[in-house]
Amino acid sequence: MRKKSLPAHISARLLQSAKKAMKKAYAPYSKFRVGASILLSNGKILSGCNVENASYGMTNCAERTAIFSAVAEHGPKIEIRAVSIVNDQGLPCAPCGACRQVIYEFGPDATIFFQGSEGPTQAHITELLPEGFRFQ
Ligand code: THU
Repeated sequence: MRKKSLPAHISARLLQSAKKAMKKAYAPYSKFRVGASILLSNGKILSGCNVENASYGMTNCAERTAIFSAVAEHGPKIEIRAVSIVNDQGLPCAPCGACRQVIYEFGPDATIFFQGSEGPTQAHITELLPEGFRFQ
């Protein structure tokens, strides 16, 4: 299932795009700005930021913003090859459980780049989400 690793210039572009999106975050409550970008199998890169709400549970993570924007832009057949996630505090920030499931829906073979507890990390989505749910 695993594809060969991404060329360095592509992962660098993905990171740049996540950083740019992070600057647009709406995070007045947590003050934790997050940016995410996704690489599609057609080569397109889309990005998103976290969007919080006074009713905290309505908050949308950066990863899901990027994925939902990608569907809105490119339709329901998108395939996610890679995801890059950054935050403005340089803190460890792996995607939350909800985002892992949403990434898995469109990217069962995706590679995720994020800040781990021991520095920049890359992991396959199934390492982050073993036994993800899908209709067969
Ligand atoms: N957040 C993300 O956008 N992505 C993550 O991977 C982790 C958390 C956001 C949600 C909320 O706006 C803030 O970070 C604090 O949880």
